[in-house]
Amino acid sequence: MSIPLKFKRVLLKLSGEALVGKQEFGIDADTLATYARQIKELWEMGVELAIVVGGGNIFRGVQGEGIGMGRAHGDYMGMLATVINGMALQDALEQFGVHVRLQSAIPMDKICEPYIRRKAIRHLQKGRVVIFAAGTGNPFFTTDTAASLRAIEIEADVVLKGTRVDGVYTADPEKDQNAVKFDSISFADVLSNRLNVMDMTAFTICQENKLPIIVFNINNPENLRRILLGEPVGTLVS
Ligand code: GTP
Repeated sequence: MSIPLKFKRVLLKLSGEALVGKQEFGIDADTLATYARQIKELWEMGVELAIVVGGGNIFRGVQGEGIGMGRAHGDYMGMLATVINGMALQDALEQFGVHVRLQSAIPMDKICEPYIRRKAIRHLQKGRVVIFAAGTGNPFFTTDTAASLRAIEIEADVVLKGTRVDGVYTADPEKDQNAVKFDSISFADVLSNRLNVMDMTAFTICQENKLPIIVFNINNPENLRRILLGEPVGTLVS
């Protein structure tokens, strides 16, 4: 008998920075394996799972500005970084026996499939994890925006935003020890309280399309499974 799942199709946003693990730069093999193990668990539960991966562990667009580089140029380098992370995640998942397809918003057909919305949906229906790399394919957008956009396009039920903290707080919990976590909060209250969930473009896409976001701690290996089972984890923004 299959377990009833809270969500049928989800979009998981994995930050590139999360992949750094204990290192200062690049991809930490243990961290990658930890994520791959959790993703395999979700996959085995039968959820249709798409992933947008960031690139901040390798290169960020704003980093380029620090050395006089134009923002667009730096953003394209950041998009390439997400492809490297996507390839690493694809390989790690395949080592665990998970069926995966990697699609890139910037076509690079020697390495991966181009992003084709209808094909991505078919892959999900056939039980494959789909990794979306290269952000939206456009500079001046974040990978959070790519996550919101892809989630809407593939008609996901929720965006799961993995972070280093347990959810959305009244203030930054890493700086303010009096910060209190919200179990749930409305889109409007996030805006009126100027809370930081995603950048404004990403956030607005979710709000306008009534797509809920769950912000949760990716470093607790129980969390993803518990979210799918409908347990209250992190903060639900809806
Ligand atoms: P179905 O046709 O639904 O069964 O999907 P499929 O992905 O199994 O079939 P397809 O023939 O499209 O792809 C087979 C393999 O080739 C998969 O691993 C794809 O990710 C890969 N592939 C498909 N298109 C491209 C491409 O344009 N570039 C690269 N590098 N790989 C591709």
